[in-house]
Amino acid sequence: MAIYILGIESSCDDTSAAVLCDDLLLSNTIAGQEVHRRFGGVVPELASRAHQQNIIPVVDTALKEANITKNQLSAVAFTRGPGLLGSLLVGVSFAKSLALALGIPLVEVNHLKAHILAHFIRLETADSRRVPRFPFLCLTVSGGHTQLVLVRDPDDMEIIGQTIDDAAGEAFDKAAKILGLPYPGGPVIDRLATNGNPKAFTLSRPVTSGLDFSFSGLKTSFLYLVRDELRKDPDFIEKRKADLAAAMRESIVEMLLLKLQAASERTGIREVAIAGGVSANSLLRSRLTELGRSLDWNLFIPPFEFTTDNAAMIAMAGYFKYLKNDFAGQDAVPYARGFHPA
Ligand code: KG4
Ligand code: ZN
Repeated sequence: MAIYILGIESSCDDTSAAVLCDDLLLSNTIAGQEVHRRFGGVVPELASRAHQQNIIPVVDTALKEANITKNQLSAVAFTRGPGLLGSLLVGVSFAKSLALALGIPLVEVNHLKAHILAHFIRLETADSRRVPRFPFLCLTVSGGHTQLVLVRDPDDMEIIGQTIDDAAGEAFDKAAKILGLPYPGGPVIDRLATNGNPKAFTLSRPVTSGLDFSFSGLKTSFLYLVRDELRKDPDFIEKRKADLAAAMRESIVEMLLLKLQAASERTGIREVAIAGGVSANSLLRSRLTELGRSLDWNLFIPPFEFTTDNAAMIAMAGYFKYLKNDFAGQDAVPYARGFHPA
């Protein structure tokens, strides 16, 4: 019998609901939150209020687009963490009440693991079905996390490297802020960088041991460069925006790929994936494709719609747990940090 999972995601500033029939995606609805734009970052209290307004219409739309009624659902999967507690609370409470009212199981999902499991979502439109084989390596690059993960199984993942300070997404966002560009900065920097010369400026790249990353030195070097040049010429940012964006993007991408390659060499694994918001970056995608080809990797780059936050990945992670009867209780509470709890 077909299994229908409703996924609910509310960990940051996007309210999203999605429906899967087994591993096939039927719908994936996302409501963004414009309210944060003028603050240059996500304001937690405003985010949770917006989730409250969005959650019912978003779930309603997801069910309608999937062409099913709520009574056909087999389970409700929700993001339990990590994320903003107030935002998570909206999704967690909604999922609990819906599952209770419908008398169906609840499945709790870890957001970071879900980014990785997005590679298993099946799309009707996909002409060929390619999924990573276990064990594989995944570079997860989101707004708050940068991790190298050894994925042995959907519920057996080990972090073998991670950032010791800022995440790659944060480095993009902070660089954009320094240039006076809107949040989220990643897509804006990516677009601007296309017309810039990455060699125009040299930014310092801190060397970290083993498979760990560090981006805070790079961010500081970017900040000091802009500050010093602005003293000489107040129009510096305006004149050199594209070159600055290109230099930053180049540095972040090269730092990420260096460690990913080291992880593959160390583990001997050539089945390699990327996940998370920064995996939408056009330079990261093209350089990774070149690297993967030269090292004979079996490479998995997610479709754009599954790079940034979405509930399809939550439903997918929920489906794997549903198959193992791994259900959550009505006492499940959100958690702000961490990888392993779910
Ligand atoms: O995974 P995600 O949607 O949310 C979290 O779980 O954090 O990632 C959001 C991050 C933001 O830092 C955003 O600037 C970055 O992904 N991002 C990008 C691009 N698109 C989104 N970074 C670089 N290039 C992009 N094209
Ligand atoms: Zn995310």
